[in-house]
Amino acid sequence: MATKGAVVLETRSLTMRFGGVVAVDNVDFELREGELRCLIGPNGAGKSTFFKCLTGQLLPTAGDVLIQDRSMLGEPPCRIAAAGIGVKTQTPSLFNGLTAREHIALAVERHHGRDTAAARIDEVIDRFNLGDLGRRLVGELAHGQRQRVEIAMVVAADPWLVLLDEPAAGMTHEEVDRMVALIHEINRNATMIIVEHDMQFIRMIGDQVTVFHQGAILIEDHVEVVLSDARVREVYLGA
Ligand SMILES: Nc1ncnc2c1ncn2[C@@H]1O[C@H](COP(=O)(O)OP(=O)(O)O)[C@@H](O)[C@H]1O
Ligand SMILES: [Mg+2]
Repeated sequence: MATKGAVVLETRSLTMRFGGVVAVDNVDFELREGELRCLIGPNGAGKSTFFKCLTGQLLPTAGDVLIQDRSMLGEPPCRIAAAGIGVKTQTPSLFNGLTAREHIALAVERHHGRDTAAARIDEVIDRFNLGDLGRRLVGELAHGQRQRVEIAMVVAADPWLVLLDEPAAGMTHEEVDRMVALIHEINRNATMIIVEHDMQFIRMIGDQVTVFHQGAILIEDHVEVVLSDARVREVYLGA
């Protein structure tokens, strides 16, 4: 999406503590319609915790999460999904004994009537290039292929907002290339947040980046500015 619109997601003084650990520290964050925003930072920076506060997997200690100006605090993940938000967490959610196609069918049938589902399943299979993989059990697929199935399931519901935690983790170079292309394609119809640790991947996505460090936002800017920032280099190399 070329033009960026209104603020669609916002956190206000968002804080998440685990005992004495402040994983997310008073974060004010804004995301505009159409954005493809990457959240980066070294291990332990608080990215996944921040992400889980957005998706309802964690109830923050303090602060607020607003989506389209409505507080989503305390809403369970199913209500977040019902609001048109697609989420892929770091934990795999595939069943090894089912085929890729059966997974897509599960995701599609959750959101479409059975009458329209069949056509929609084919559409998603095509869009994600899962034609050849469709009949194989996901337990037999390569890591990158499994990730593709997971993201296809998220997008099958036509979310307007897509939140992905480390979609390229553990992938080969070739798989990463395909994932980057896929993410750009998804962004044509959806606003996105991508949590990612890998700098090379962020560079390939090539958009606005928010850097987390010790639970707070260190810098927020275009990827080229961020990657040449001395503080960012220090934080990454120091970790
Ligand atoms: N469930 C939890 N219980 C206790 N501490 C946690 C929990 N989840 C995360 N943390 C701590 O919060 C900090 C941020 O972790 P996390 O959000 O996973 O970072 P990142 O995703 O950037 O690697 C770390 O110090 C981590 O150990
Ligand atoms: Mg993480």
